Formats: sequence, structure tokens, C-alpha cells
Amino acid sequence: MAANSFLNLAFLSFYSISLLLLLPFQPFAASRGRFLPNYDGAPPLTGICSAAVILNGYKCQEFDVTTDDGYILGVLRIPEGRAGGGGPNRPPVLLQHGLLVDGMTWLMNPPEQSLATILADNGFDVWISNLRGTQFSRRHLTIDPSNPQFWDWTWDELATHDLQSVIDFVFKQTGQKTHYVGHSMGTLIAMVSLSEGQFDKVKSVALLSPIAYVSHITTPLGVVAAKAFLGEIIATFGPAEFNPRGEAAATFVQSLCAYPGVNCYDFLSAFTGNNCCLNTSTVETFVKNEPQSTATKNLVHFAQSVRDGVLSKYDYGNAIANMEHYGVSSPPVYDLSKIPHDFPLFLSYGGRDTLSDVTDVHILLDILKSHDQDKMKVQYIQEYAHVDFIMGVDAKDIVYSEILEFFRAHN
Ligand SMILES: *[C@@H]1O[C@H](CO)[C@@H](O)[C@H](O)[C@H]1NC(C)=O
Repeated sequence: MAANSFLNLAFLSFYSISLLLLLPFQPFAASRGRFLPNYDGAPPLTGICSAAVILNGYKCQEFDVTTDDGYILGVLRIPEGRAGGGGPNRPPVLLQHGLLVDGMTWLMNPPEQSLATILADNGFDVWISNLRGTQFSRRHLTIDPSNPQFWDWTWDELATHDLQSVIDFVFKQTGQKTHYVGHSMGTLIAMVSLSEGQFDKVKSVALLSPIAYVSHITTPLGVVAAKAFLGEIIATFGPAEFNPRGEAAATFVQSLCAYPGVNCYDFLSAFTGNNCCLNTSTVETFVKNEPQSTATKNLVHFAQSVRDGVLSKYDYGNAIANMEHYGVSSPPVYDLSKIPHDFPLFLSYGGRDTLSDVTDVHILLDILKSHDQDKMKVQYIQEYAHVDFIMGVDAKDIVYSEILEFFRAHN
């Protein structure tokens, strides 16, 4: 059981690699709990507030945020700490989850160890978003999730539509700019937004397991998966929903695991890295809730980034199609050196993280080398892998205390 649960954790990883976990996930398919997504289109049994916040003694509010392209996102707010004391001037902070998971991942540990509740107890007004396609954000003004059109997006759209709409919403509700914490894909969409000058309602950003350049993924299965995504996957799944709990995904994973040199029995260390500090009971909560769907097109976009080693918009595959979408024959490249040099940035990365690989993070840091020294703090944690940053039992002492200090210094 523990071994299976650990394997499933790799779902926290971002993109193709995550699908490999489908096999270990099978035993759980028959025992869906109340947190599980309902893929039949019916509303979920319960929201995150009642599932993970109110029962711990915190106030919690749920909102529907409609994006400028019609998606309806479930967003929640923990307005004050467990002891109360809410007031008008609590600085807002928005937590943005990564790929194939949802906002619940910020609330998996006990309240004293989870970032969302720690921020609330330390005087922040906490907002948690759920990106399109995840269990509380499977709605659109006119398109049903059963329609492939609902899934016609990648992280380009998550940055320009979901993130912008949620940040605008927080601004309207609080009258303040927000702080921001992203994990994995949640860092990617923040960095591209910053580089495009679209983060004017954000005060500072904390990037955990930053993902931007991803060409140094070295695990055999990761490389095979990324290659397969560009070839087989559209044929296998079609350009629609990628449901990681579906049968097609399981079959696909089985075929990848048959590649020579690919060992599917050691998922966690092979893909997210050797996480040092996870709590078994947290892991069990996690596998009841995740993984969540994403768009197949989004995974293809990630696979293109692995293949090309550049950070650009989605490649439509030929000059004519790119011309149609972008007015130029190849997809526009994101230039992260355009992130404003005086924008407060906190960045934390781990020595054992095989997704946010140290070599790739160094490429990013090199691009950010002209950043104002007093506006940037970089933390390296030798023993941490991808998942430790959001679920590690000691993350509160190692990482979250630093985030609190950084936000206070840049409020
Ligand atoms: C692990 O999680 C359980 C359940 O939330 C909690 O009671 C326990 O204290 C946690 N263990 C550690 C080492 O934090």
C-alpha cells in the first residue's frame, strides 16, 4: 500500500512523466472516495472548503471566476487564520498548483504544515485557484467538457486567461495587489506572464520547483514519454481531454514501460526525484484526490519544450498553421530576461528534483542574472525533490518560513 501510494505521488510532477503512474493507480480505481473527481459531468460531491479547510477550524469561501474565454473556475479563499482576526488590510496571496493536480494539493498536510493555512495563520488573506479541466473547474459558459473544443488549450492559455482572470478577481475583491506562490507549472505560467508584462496586479512571486527550460530531463522513462507524446499521443487520445485515470492512458503507459532501460517499478525516485520528507498518511490523502485531467494539447506543448530546449508558444507543426495563429511562421519564443529586474522574486529548488532539474534551473538563473540583487532570493535545498516543496513535513521550517519573510519584506 505504502509503495503504491508513493508511486502515485509522481502525479505531482508536471506533464508526460506523470502518465506513467497510471499503472500503480489502477488499484485505487475501484475505491473512489469523496474527494475524487466525477468524470461523468455531475457536480462534485463536495468542494475543497468543506473537504479540507472548514473541518480544520478555518473560515473558507468558494467563488466562481469566469475567464475572458468563458471557462468557469472554482476559486477558494481562506480569509483569516484559525484564531480569527481577519481585517481589511491582510495582504492577499494566491497559490497556483501544477499540472495534473488541483488546489487541494496546498492542503494535504495537517494545518500546521500546509502552506495555505500557515499563510492564513500568519496574517495573509489566502486565495487558491483551480485551473481549467480540474475537478472544480470543469465548466464553461457554452462548451461542455465532453466537447473536444473544451480542451483546446495549453499553458499559453492558462497564463493569459486563467491566471489573469483569477488575479483580476482577487484584486477586485481585496482592492490590493497579491503575492503569488506557484509550484511547477504554476511557476511557468507566472514567469511567462511576468516576461510579457502581465503581472501588474502582483506584488511578489515565490517559485517552488521552477519549470521553464526542461531539456535536461534525463530519466529514461521521461525521455521516452516526451518523445511518444509528439508522435503517438494525439493518435491515441485525440486532441481532447487527457484523463489520467482512463483506460487509454493506462494502455499507453504500459507500452512505454516496455521500452528497454525503462523501469516502471521505481516511479517516484525515477521521475519526481527521491523525495526526502513525505508523510505516508498525507500521501494517502493525495491519492484519493489526484490526479486530475488536463488537455492532451497541453502535454504535447510540454513535450515540444523537452524536444526543442526552448520556451515558446505552442507549435502548430508547420509554417502555415503557425502563421495563421501567430502571424509568423514559427511559434513566438518567451524571453524570460524581460522579467522586470526590480520585481521581487523568491526561487527555491531541490538537489534531487528530476523534473525541475538542477541543470535546467541553472539555465533559468543565468537568464535572471541581471535581476536586482535585493529583489531576488534563491534557495537551494540539497535533499529536496519535486514533491517535498508542497508536501514535505519540514517544508514549513525550511521553505515556508522563508516565503513569509520574503513576502513581509516586499509587501
Ligand atoms: C502525518 O500526518 C498525520 C495525519 O495528518 C499527522 O497526524 C502526523 O502528525 C503527521 N506526521 C508528521 C511526522 O508530521
